[in-house]
Amino acid sequence: MANVIIVGTQWGDEGKGKIVDIYAREADVIARFQGGNNAGHTLVVQGKQTILHLIPSGILHNHKICILGNGMVIDPEVLIREIDELLERDLFPPDTKLYISENAHIIMPYHRGLDSARETRKGAVKIGTTGRGIGPAYEDKINRTGIRFCDLLNRETFGEMLRRNVEEKNFHLTRFYNDKPLEYGAIFDEYSGYADRLRKYAANTSLMIDREIKKGGDILFEGAQGCHLDIDHGTYPFVTSSNTSAGGACCGAGIGPTKIDAVVGICKAYTTRVGSGPFVTELTGEMGERIQRVGCEFGATTGRKRRCGWLDMVLVRHSVRVSGITGIALTKLDVLTGIDKIKICVAYKTMDEEFGEYVPSGTKLLEQCQPVYEEMDGWSEDISGAKTMDDLPVNAKRYIERLEELAGVRMSLISVGPGREETIMLENPFDRAGNLSSPETSHKRD
Ligand code: GDP
Ligand code: IMO
Ligand code: MG
Repeated sequence: MANVIIVGTQWGDEGKGKIVDIYAREADVIARFQGGNNAGHTLVVQGKQTILHLIPSGILHNHKICILGNGMVIDPEVLIREIDELLERDLFPPDTKLYISENAHIIMPYHRGLDSARETRKGAVKIGTTGRGIGPAYEDKINRTGIRFCDLLNRETFGEMLRRNVEEKNFHLTRFYNDKPLEYGAIFDEYSGYADRLRKYAANTSLMIDREIKKGGDILFEGAQGCHLDIDHGTYPFVTSSNTSAGGACCGAGIGPTKIDAVVGICKAYTTRVGSGPFVTELTGEMGERIQRVGCEFGATTGRKRRCGWLDMVLVRHSVRVSGITGIALTKLDVLTGIDKIKICVAYKTMDEEFGEYVPSGTKLLEQCQPVYEEMDGWSEDISGAKTMDDLPVNAKRYIERLEELAGVRMSLISVGPGREETIMLENPFDRAGNLSSPETSHKRD
């Protein structure tokens, strides 16, 4: 019995979907706790790809409880589309246990409108958001004017809150952004339809998780985005609007920190970023293009090309600290196969300072930082069939061991391809003692 949080250690797209799908086998409940459909989590099972934006990545395991937690912002139109797509593929049987927190906030058309109007107005200094209305929805939550799922389900409450919001948002949209106003009646009718469709999934999900814990169940908390997109700990202002680090799981799912047993940080074997913002190890030349091409680094949500660079261990160390990471799942190691010399960023330096333990906060300072690299010999053997550490070439093992030293945390898992089976399991985070998950898939560790 254990409760495990999974978070991204970089700028998102580390492969969280694949790893959550694998660990979901061990869990009774899989809960998202922040973000919304800015997330795009990819699962590949028996060669078939599923991309999830809102539904937890445990959904492909029948009979698991899947929860959209109170910390999320939910676009009901997108959620219904996602359910329908799973239904069409027979992946959402009638007894599917999907629950939505009554306290989760709802993304409204004016949130999407404001998101894109602001980005347009910012021009060259835009954040490069996903345009899904995430920031404006969280603003309303903090401003105490947001519409929660329970408010949407009550026609009268919804009508009153919507009227006040439309009046205010139309003022901003038309007077400040020169945009078109939105019509109250049309939104009311559209969203009342969504309420009717989603009503049956409403629940007090905090209580539900607590009951499962008391029964001895295992809970998996699925983070979206990554630590450096965290509103407090990321590269502000080029971040998302929620707490993506492990602390967010407690508030965003409604459980206490004393219930958490392990935190797995997902780390890609190199670094990527979608949208604007400083990126110290970014490779703009041929090597960046190679990683982008071989890693198929296109956004799972917006289809944008991801910016690519060498693995930045300053980012990862910062994340290990902020999220209290107890084990790392290293993904996409196969993408580095065939590169002669692989670089790892171990520190940043400016004219007069060096940073190894944390990412400096000031944007201007961070933009001046240059990477300090260590270089390691690469490998050329195909590693996608590796099932144990002993199946890996010696240089791949050396790379992994160096990352463990730099992170100060052991690897829990190594991913060598997008498929479920393309995985080396090392330590099972659901086993509180941290025992190896199965002797035949482990390697000897001192
Ligand atoms: P997430 O947002 O963290 O869930 O990650 P995304 O799904 O946005 O992006 C990760 C991409 O890498 C997806 O296309 C996955 O199918 C793919 N992927 C995950 N793990 C591996 C791996 O070990 N090797 C390769 N080649 N692809 C992987
Ligand atoms: P997953 O869960 C990568 C980025 C956007 C933008 C910034 C703010 O798939 O890892 P937002 O729409 O959230 O206000 O955009 O955050 N971003 C992501 N980048 N993966 C994600 O999610 C992201 N979600 C948001 O590109 O730079
Ligand atoms: Mg993604």
